[in-house]
This record gives sequence, C-alpha cells and structure tokens, in this order.
Amino acid sequence: MPNILKTWRLKKGGDGRFRQGHPWIFSGELGHSTRDVEAGEVVELHDDKDHFLAFGMAHPSSTISFRKLSLNAKEKDLMSVDFFLRRFAQARLLRENSGWTGFSHRLLFGEADGLPGLIADVFKTKGEDLLVFQITTAGMEAVRTEIVTALEKFTTGAIVEASTSSHRKTEGLKPSRREVVRGSGDFSNLEISLKHLGRTIQLNANFAGGQKTGFFLDQQWNSQLLLELLSKRKKTPLKVLDLCCYVGQWGAQIAATGLPVEVDLVDTSKDALAMAKSNVEKFGAQARTHEIDVMDEWDFEEKSFDVVICDPPAFVKKKNDLAQGLSGYVKLNREAIRRVKPGGLFVSSSCSGGVKESDFSEALLSARTKASRNLRWLAQGGHGPDHPTLLEFPEGQYLKCRIGQVDFPF
Ligand SMILES: C[S@@+](CC[C@H](N)C(=O)[O-])C[C@H]1O[C@@H](n2cnc3c(N)ncnc32)[C@H](O)[C@@H]1O
Repeated sequence: MPNILKTWRLKKGGDGRFRQGHPWIFSGELGHSTRDVEAGEVVELHDDKDHFLAFGMAHPSSTISFRKLSLNAKEKDLMSVDFFLRRFAQARLLRENSGWTGFSHRLLFGEADGLPGLIADVFKTKGEDLLVFQITTAGMEAVRTEIVTALEKFTTGAIVEASTSSHRKTEGLKPSRREVVRGSGDFSNLEISLKHLGRTIQLNANFAGGQKTGFFLDQQWNSQLLLELLSKRKKTPLKVLDLCCYVGQWGAQIAATGLPVEVDLVDTSKDALAMAKSNVEKFGAQARTHEIDVMDEWDFEEKSFDVVICDPPAFVKKKNDLAQGLSGYVKLNREAIRRVKPGGLFVSSSCSGGVKESDFSEALLSARTKASRNLRWLAQGGHGPDHPTLLEFPEGQYLKCRIGQVDFPF
C-alpha cells in the first residue's frame, strides 16, 4: 500500500470538469507545480478551499497530471492487493450481469472500471481461461507486483502480460513488456471462444506475439450487429471483403452463419493473414489473402462485394494527427464503398480515440459523396457491455462502428 504523503490542490475554478466525473486533471488546472512527485505516486487531491476531492495517481511530466482512483476519503488501501481484488470483483459482476462472461470478453477497461491504465481481456478456451493484461500508466506500473498477486488470486487460468501500448512512452515507461506470468504451453496459436448470435464459435489467435492483447475483442459487439442483419438472408453466395482483417474475425463470423461465403482478406501482416485464412476456412468458406497496404492502390473490382468491412488501425493517435487522419479515413472509406454491390452492406469502423462520432460521420459522408454512391445506416455500433464508457469521459469512447446499405432504389 502506498504512503499518501502529498496533497495536490486545484486552482480556483479548476474543479468543474472533475466534479462532473471526469477522471483526469491537467497541469493547468493545478494551483502549483507537478514536479514534487515521482511518476505514478498516489496523492490526495483537494479543491482550492482545501476540501478533499479524490485520491489518484500523479505524474510530474505527463500532460495528464492526475488520474482518479477513488472519491472515497476512507478508501485508504489504494493500490493494495485487496483494493485490486475489490475492483476486479466489481468488474466481473458487471460483465456477469450483462451475460458477457460465457465467452471471451474484456474484464478490465481502465477508467470505466476505476483502474486507469489497466486493461485485461479474458479468453475462454477449451481448457483453462487465459487472462491477458496490459499496463499503460506509471501508477499501475509501480504496483505491478500487487496487480499480479491480485490477478493470481482472482483467476485460475494462465496469465500473460502484453504491455505493448505506445502510450507507455508518454508515461516514461519502457516501451514494451510481454511475458507469461502464469501457465505454460504454446500461446502462439490458441483457440478461443467468441459470441456468435445465441451460441459461441471458436477462432484461433496468437497470444505470444499478436497485436494488442492478441485479439480485438472490442469488435465482438459490432460483429453481432452485422450477423443479425445477415441472419435472415437466403442461402445465396455472399462475397465479403474484409479490409484490415487481422485474424479474420469478421469474415469468420459471417462464414460461421452457414451462408455460402467467399472472403477476400486484406492486411499488411503476413502472420495475421495466415491465421485469418484458416479461421475463415474452418467454417467451410473460401478465403483468399492479400498482403497489401490499404492506403496504396488496390485492384478489387468496383461494385463486386455483398459485404465490405473496413476496420483500419487508429489513424489519429494524437491531436496533431486529426486533419491527416480524417483525410485517411475519407480516402480509405471512399475506396471501400466503391467495392460494395448496389444494395450490399458496408461496415466502417474507427478506433481513433481522437475522432469524435461527428468527425467520423463527416468523413463517411465525404467518402460516399466522393465515391458517388448512396448510403443509409442500418445500425450504429461502438462499445459493447464489456467495454463500458463514462458519459463524462469522452476520451474513453474510442470505438465507432456504422453498418449501412449502399445504394437503394429511390
Ligand atoms: C484495428 S486492427 C483490425 C482488427 C480486425 N478487423 C478485427 O476485427 O480483429 C487493424 C489491422 O490493420 C492492419 N493494418 C495496419 N496498417 C495497415 C495497412 N496500411 N494496410 C492494411 N492493413 C493494415 C493491422 O495489421 C491490423 O491487423
């Protein structure tokens, strides 16, 4: 348990956003310098009249100076094993209550679970569960031992750390740590269970060296929306273009409906493509892989796919990237929309935290106008119940997803 020795005070008027529930304080909102703390030290936050506001993790040089841990002045065992166990139990209860623990799911989602800088995904396998966690803040890094002890008590299966996010650099942390904390065996090709309408299906992913925690669980909610839209289709052959497919979860989810499907899988990662092909083919669908950069020219015929999925990496990682990132979304989505057959479905996603829903809508409007096609939205996705968000914290709402029909007869 950390010793809370320091109290930070806000400037007069610096508490408005924080009192609304926002979990961060920026240096300009403080009445003093931030230099008196070690990165990640737990401090007490007071308003300008010296009233207690919260406990949180402080940072001397990050633009985010303070990240809220607790509003409870009596919660004195912050960052202890017991503290983590309490937060983990609350997080699990939320997922259990929404019916999201019977398949792979995100268990811990940073600020939304009261744990800034800590993420954990639980992957259900035929054997024991695999939990993959990621630390992105100096405060969580400082108590890694307590986190690991709590995870070991809380879960029974294997535990892998995949702390590889680029955000670690801004907190002054070593760029990357990937290691098996508990368990043995080959994590490089593991079959995991995923939600598929009312049942589950199994796909393979790499948890020894894949991207992020090994699998993009955030799209599980959105792929269900697409499946619902496809589920009543006649069994006519369906041509699918899965752009930035990673291990092919969209194409494989569609193939698992039993519809006769041909999937063109596109990514820059050879390893991901190989896994994507086998994930799609295990449901009896045909799969072709294309190791190409989606920002270069590609030669898929226009108006030739029944479903096109466009799920690129984040084009906007910081504020300065916004204009260029948005023009990237316009260009890519324009080309993607052009490939959809009249009446076909178009899925477009952005995982850039810095791109608001309204920016994304503008980019998509511009893309479909440049593509000279019509588009009407049938479903709007985003964060599923295992990736909860806070109304007062738009920074935590990174995922946008729209599903629409291209061209219609009026
Ligand atoms: C957000 S992930 C996509 C996740 C995937 N659609 C899923 O649901 O699991 C982005 C993917 O784009 C790939 N990628 C990154 N840059 C790319 C590019 N320029 N062209 C094609 N693929 C790219 C990455 O290898 C990664 O697999």
